[in-house]
Amino acid sequence: MTDNSEQKAIAVMTSGGDAQGMNAAVRAVVRTGSVLGIKVFAIHEGYEGLVNNKLTEMTWDSVSGVLGQGGTVIGTARSKEFRERSGRLKAAKNMVHNGIDNLVVIGGDGSLTGANQFSEEWKSLLDELVAGGEISADAIKKHPQLKIVGMVGSIDNDMANTDMTIGADSALHRITEAVDAIKSTAASHQRTFIVEVMGRNCGYLALVSAIASGAGWVFVPEYPPYEGWEKKICEVLQGGIDAGRRDSIIIVAEGARDRQGNPITCDMVKEVIDNGMGIDSRITILGHVQRGGIPSAYDRYMSTLAGHTAVHDILKDNDSGRGHLVVVDKNRFGIADLMESVGKNRQIADLIKNKKFDEAVELRGSSWKKLRDIYRTMCLALPRGDETTGTYNIAVMNCGWPSPGMNAAVRAAVRIALDRGNKVFKVHNGFEGLINDDLKKVEWMEIEEWIGQPGSNIGSTRTVPGESDMYNIAATLEKSKIDGILMIGGWAGYSGMERLYKMRKIFPVFNMPFVCIPASINNSLPGCELSIGADTALNNIVSAIDVIKHSADSSCRAFIVEVMGRYCGYLAAMSGLATGAEEVYLHEKGINLDKLRKHIRRLVKSFKHGRNVGLYIRNEKADKIYTTDFIARLFEAESNDLFDVKKVVLGPLQQGGIPSPFDRTMATRLSFDATNHLIDCLDAKDNHGYFMGFGGTGETIINFRKLDEMISRLHERPLDQWWENLFEVAADMAHNPEEN
Ligand code: F6P
Repeated sequence: MTDNSEQKAIAVMTSGGDAQGMNAAVRAVVRTGSVLGIKVFAIHEGYEGLVNNKLTEMTWDSVSGVLGQGGTVIGTARSKEFRERSGRLKAAKNMVHNGIDNLVVIGGDGSLTGANQFSEEWKSLLDELVAGGEISADAIKKHPQLKIVGMVGSIDNDMANTDMTIGADSALHRITEAVDAIKSTAASHQRTFIVEVMGRNCGYLALVSAIASGAGWVFVPEYPPYEGWEKKICEVLQGGIDAGRRDSIIIVAEGARDRQGNPITCDMVKEVIDNGMGIDSRITILGHVQRGGIPSAYDRYMSTLAGHTAVHDILKDNDSGRGHLVVVDKNRFGIADLMESVGKNRQIADLIKNKKFDEAVELRGSSWKKLRDIYRTMCLALPRGDETTGTYNIAVMNCGWPSPGMNAAVRAAVRIALDRGNKVFKVHNGFEGLINDDLKKVEWMEIEEWIGQPGSNIGSTRTVPGESDMYNIAATLEKSKIDGILMIGGWAGYSGMERLYKMRKIFPVFNMPFVCIPASINNSLPGCELSIGADTALNNIVSAIDVIKHSADSSCRAFIVEVMGRYCGYLAAMSGLATGAEEVYLHEKGINLDKLRKHIRRLVKSFKHGRNVGLYIRNEKADKIYTTDFIARLFEAESNDLFDVKKVVLGPLQQGGIPSPFDRTMATRLSFDATNHLIDCLDAKDNHGYFMGFGGTGETIINFRKLDEMISRLHERPLDQWWENLFEVAADMAHNPEEN
């Protein structure tokens, strides 16, 4: 075999434990490569396949239909042979024979370290191959360097420098679903369950699933319990039962340790609590279920963006000889040094091994510490403060369409405020409750089970108060001596709070601090790049589209799917990316006949080439004239009987359902910060209004005065939308360059 090609070539592999989203990443590498005219080879079965020359050249079409599949379609394995130099020698020979000197590895830190070693040895491996007559001397000139770009494929979310790893969000879906199911049987019997989750040395899955499921205790490697935990856990669980908890859930990370470094297992925990409390608890080990199943919406689009970033990075000059790692920091993709990231990770594992837990947590980063603090408050059976220590009356309300996660946000707000010794009033039905003096004090245990409940338990309406309502609202606030307001909701909520804000001169009682927390499936609120509910809606859309696409399995069909969002195209754009839609129609981009003509031409061509499904997603307010119905009829009319066209309006299924783990956690985190900020404002006699921020602006709490400059009032959406620059990626994923 000789390599005569001058064309750039990349090999992509998945290695180590599989993770949901790996297929999306492979697909993105293959398709981005195709669009850029790069040859892409898939290495089957990880390093094992590289050693044994199991490489196949991929085409744009070879990754059709894999985006939503679990596991990895190109296989993975743990290779002993590659760990030996003799194995790496074979691997290098196979790379050279296929003309490849760029390697994209999707795997955990072991796989990435292997890739780095391979790259460091590259020159000496090639020298040895030349000396042995296995490759020509020319190959060294042609392939002087092996470029490595890694993506972390691991459900554990255990890599430094990146917010999320491929598969972690899907694993959280599996865990949360399982724990929700366990909770209902546990509550029926008033039982305690001990649930073991994966994560090796990293407690991320355990900690986040404990927050997302409202668990009563969690064991993670980074925060081992203090000596005497055996007595403490019994007291805490008994406290919960005495306070009215019907189910007790204990989450144990598989790598949990005590402060001496001895493993804490589910069996040990069972023995401790059964003996200490006189109960008969049950153990559930979730095991590989966590790594299985389909990827979540996040894992589909995040992995797609990561794969796209990896290929573009390969095209850049990188003479440093050092491997790169694709990382994500609040929705922004970037490149970090591979071994610096892996090294940091190893350091954390060593610190844990050496019982330097505080230092380990320090290296994990500040958001870790915050998660721990949040968990510590949320799991309490009773507030630490009492009404004699706090001074404030805080009103909590939901406004706008109910959005999944609103209850989790109310729960967190109530617990944080009560824990700091304040009184909390739940306002019924948003501003209507303030107008009609419909609010009630809320207690700690009342909201215990709210974390995973859908809708809004306190009621949420879209009523925006008018001038004539102001007097009644002022009277309500005065009567209950409300000192501050937490509004958890969408545009109606922000608009209503703005009206109160503007009426401060006339109604002095409105001179109180308030914080708005974004909760809207549309994700159309300023300053906060992800609002509560949007992730659940996106998952609802993606699951529905999975089903819809299957209905075309034995026929040729194009679907025009209408999704919600009002004038904000977030749901349409991101579901397009997560489902592999051919096109998305958004108000932000507009629709015209030229575009539609081009799309229908491309569609007809692709059906002629053997495709059997076409997917088009249209935002509900994309255009007044080019409606979903119009587009469906147009496509049908132009189909030349090659395919039929179905119009699907997803409707309210997008708003309903139990909140995703991300929305539960996001709701809890935003509410934690908002409530603490509100109380701090009250302490500091700061009467300003605020809304929560997250993402690009870097601001976590934004003064209400800035609202005006950040929004389009006409279209009720932020002026700056981070996701709008992802269209290029979506186009690369959707359009086969050979069909253009
Ligand atoms: O790293 C991913 C992971 O799922 C860990 O959470 C777990 O400890 C390990 O892999 C299990 O490995 P295996 O599939 O080889 O049993």
